[in-house]
Order: sequence, then structure tokens, then C-alpha cells
Amino acid sequence: MTTTETLHAVPESRWTSDEAWVGTRRPVLEAHALPADCYVDEAFFAEEQDRVFATSWVSVGFCNELDAPGSAIVRTVAGRSVIITRNADGELRAFLNACRHRGTQLVDGDCILGSVIHCPYHRWGYDRDGALVATPQFADAGVDGFEPTDYGLHPVRVDAWQCLLVICLSNETVPANKWFGDLDQRLAGYRLGKWRTHLTQNIEIEANWKLISENFQEYYHLRWVHPELSKVSRVQDHYRYQGAGMYCGQTTTPISNDERGDWSAMPPVEGLNHSDMASGRFIALFPNTLLSVLPNHVFVMHLDPVGPGLTRVTGTWLLPPSNPHVADADFVTTRDFWQDVNNEDIDIVERGQRGLTSGGYTPGRLSPRFEEPLHRFHNMLADRFTGSTRIPAGDESDDQPLYGTGVNPLPWRGVDI
Ligand code: FES
Ligand SMILES: [Fe+2]
Repeated sequence: MTTTETLHAVPESRWTSDEAWVGTRRPVLEAHALPADCYVDEAFFAEEQDRVFATSWVSVGFCNELDAPGSAIVRTVAGRSVIITRNADGELRAFLNACRHRGTQLVDGDCILGSVIHCPYHRWGYDRDGALVATPQFADAGVDGFEPTDYGLHPVRVDAWQCLLVICLSNETVPANKWFGDLDQRLAGYRLGKWRTHLTQNIEIEANWKLISENFQEYYHLRWVHPELSKVSRVQDHYRYQGAGMYCGQTTTPISNDERGDWSAMPPVEGLNHSDMASGRFIALFPNTLLSVLPNHVFVMHLDPVGPGLTRVTGTWLLPPSNPHVADADFVTTRDFWQDVNNEDIDIVERGQRGLTSGGYTPGRLSPRFEEPLHRFHNMLADRFTGSTRIPAGDESDDQPLYGTGVNPLPWRGVDI
């Protein structure tokens, strides 16, 4: 699907011209990696916030974080602080976190809201639909032409997608279900909307957010950076898992050979089909959420860009509803394995950032077999900068060999539960 709607008004720059992306736009067999400026340059970073983060569906948390009545989370996307909550009827709502009187920040952070959100400055109040419902002493001396309905909180688009809460600061972007494309159907068998967060950890990584995502998307580095992981997740067991949608997907099938069972310590969710039961789905949602979906747990990384060379990462493990009382020891085995793998990745992406910052890098070539998802990711990025809002297509089938990989022995065939 291709549309030609215009992204919101940000001045033209060298990155809005097609010439800036010539190496990215070549076919993958001839393509180059991104220039160093995309990872280290302050001006690129600022523009990326506007062109990418302010126009995308960005995951900001998990549906179960809003289970308690009145609960709210506060997240910053593209420099905008946003309150995400549910109204009195339980429907999702999101608002910019600034009072409509004189702009004061309303809510400090995650909290339980009452029926009215009060501004601490002059006590204007808003209900959880964003309507202005209190203006104490405001009109006592008279005020002309004031309509409270003109001063409700600025709404932000919000949706629940699978287990994730997603927001979009642009009104021009397609709805969330179109943004994620066929991924809803691909993941339907897991019923992720019912899974719940089990543990969250935060960390800061001294690397650009794209380096972290790219590293997640390719398994070229597996043998050398992750000698232990490569016993579970073997290079030869990786395949594409790519339909139409704003994501880059791959699958490891089978997920675990006999040598190490760290990922199988907990029981799987009930009702998975043969392909899902035997596979790990590794999906980079554009722009900044990394999903690892396994038969018995999900690990999600949210990448919050702080600066060109600094990213705040929130890592969250989710467990299925059929598995609420998993033994601590079994979860710890899974968690520790992830932490070991992640530490190896952090070291290499921080090294990557140092090289891009000071190494005089000029764009190199991509390995089609291992780095095709990066090519797709780079082109999504180029689309946002050059004004295209297309949703990229996917593979024609899940069992066709691509760029040297074999035929997936258990291709995804659609939902058969
Ligand atoms: S700034 Fe919020 S009530 Fe005045
Ligand atoms: Fe890795």
C-alpha cells in the first residue's frame, strides 16, 4: 500500500533529498549501510525525532499496566510528555501532559488518577476524557468568550496492539492495525493480549537506538559475539518471518536444539500450533520496539533515544496467563540467559558507536543473507525522511529460500487454532 500524504511540517534538509539515501535505496545485493551521521550527528537526531518518532505508532508500555482503575502511565515520545490512561468506561485515552491554562506539567509519572486530573498550579481540573471540568475562581471577575470545551487536554492517538500500548502523535498516520500489517495474524496464536508483565529492568546503553535495533535484527554476529546463545539459537536455524507491515521479522526454527535448554525451562503457553510451539519469533517493530516471542515467555525491549549516542532501554519479560505461578528458579534461568546475551550485545553496540563516532567511517556493504532486515529497516527510515508513508510489502511465502538460507522446515501457515 502506498499513500502520498505529507508528513508534518519540518523544514527540508539534506536528509529529505533522495540523494542522501542512494546507497540505502539500491537493491539489497548492492546496498550500503547508513552513513555515520545517522548515528552520531545531533542535527540528524533532532530531525529523526520529528520525522520518525512523531509520525510513527510507538509502543510505550503494556496493556496490563492500566488494569487498575484510574491507573496512568506517563511516557515521552519525540520530546512530548504523554499521559496514557483509561476513561471511566475503561476506554483508552492519551493526552499531552500540559495544562491548557498556562502549560504546567500535570502529572509527574506513573500514578493512579482520581476521576479528575488536577493541575497543581491553579487547580484547573480535567476528567479522564480530557474535558476541562474545573476552573476555580476563574470567572469570578468575568472573562469574555471563554468556553471550557475549547480548553480540553490535547488528545493523542492511542491503541492496544497485542500486549502493547501504542501511541501516535500524528493524525495523518494510518491506524495502528494497518501500521503493523499482517503481524496481528502472525502472532494471533499466542493471544499476547492476555500476557502479563513479570519483570522490568532499565539500563542505559551508550549507543544510538538504531545500532541496538540493527544488532537485534541480524544474526551475522551470532557465532562470535554469542558463543553460548549460538548453541541454542543456531545460525542454520534462522529464517525470515516477514509479511507486509512496519516491522522486520525473523524466526528461529527450531528454537532450541538439545545442547542447552535455557529457553525451555518454563512450560509453554497452551494452544500453540506446531510452528509457533517450535519457534522463536524475533521482531523489530518500527521504529523502536524489539519483540522476542517464545512459546513460554516474551521479552520486549523499548528503546528510548536520549541522544545520538545514548539510549535508555526498558527490558520487560511477559508470561502467559496459563502460566501465572512459574517457579522462580525456572524464570531466573530464562532471565539470566537473556542478561548474558544482552551484556554481550551491549558491549558490541557500544563499540560500534565508538567506531562510528571516531573512526572516519564511510558506508560499507551489507550481507544479503544475514543483514537483509537491516536493508528493510534502513528503507523504512529513508521513507520517513523523504516523505513516503508506504507500508512495505513482505515475502510471498514463508518457506521460500532467500539469499542463501534454506527452506524453513515449519513455515508459518496462518492461524489454525
Ligand atoms: S497552569 Fe494549570 S491551572 Fe494554571
Ligand atoms: Fe546479539
